[in-house]
Amino acid sequence: MVKADPHHGGNKPRVAILISGRGSNMAALIEAAKADGFPAEIAVVISNRADAGGLALAQAQAVPTVTIESKPFGKDRAAFEAKLQSALEDHRIELICLGGFMRLFTAEFVQRWYGRMLNIHPSLLPSFPGLDPHAQAIAAGVKVSGATVHFVTPETDAGPIVMQGVVTVCDDDTPEVLSARILEIEHQIYPEALRLLASGKLRLDGEICRLVGKASARGALISPHLPAKA
Ligand code: GAR
Repeated sequence: MVKADPHHGGNKPRVAILISGRGSNMAALIEAAKADGFPAEIAVVISNRADAGGLALAQAQAVPTVTIESKPFGKDRAAFEAKLQSALEDHRIELICLGGFMRLFTAEFVQRWYGRMLNIHPSLLPSFPGLDPHAQAIAAGVKVSGATVHFVTPETDAGPIVMQGVVTVCDDDTPEVLSARILEIEHQIYPEALRLLASGKLRLDGEICRLVGKASARGALISPHLPAKA
């Protein structure tokens, strides 16, 4: 059993958030980390696109930003990652949070950061990985969906699950409406998952992530809502 150990020294572990777009999860993480007791520090935001809206949001919060355009690297993932790794080292990063980072990594990079890199995906994994998870959920007719924070492994949108949040899926949902409902949950669970990781409360047991010393809450969500019995 491996304890996911974010502490390589110092006080709060230094976190890099990697983005490609609007950065609403990034903003939620930055906001949460402002609280005194939050056990991690958002040290840098790195974008692989110069036009990512999240860059301005991070700068407005006085979080340092770095842009490493991935397009010029084409399929040379290793060369892009060499630049990324050196930016991570420059900022003495110990943990990575992917927030809508739309670039695949090599197995080597993932292995190097295994147990120290989280991703969020807007579905209840392992259902609906990849593109258009909201449209996938609606097409499948599921009655609940949600969001998943997980450790990153070489396979896309897979890896030990840290936390999930559930929402109802309604008959008249469009992907946009469902996406907005799920996004609210994403903004709640991502900071909590990072809090757990940064405070050493997660341990990896093979493919399973477990909480150290705390039982999960028991509960149920039924959808569609059952009518009261007559
Ligand atoms: C979020 O919904 C996130 O879950 C999703 O991209 C969006 C980014 O939004 N990630 C994936 O689909 C990963 N496969 P944001 O830039 O506003 O955080």
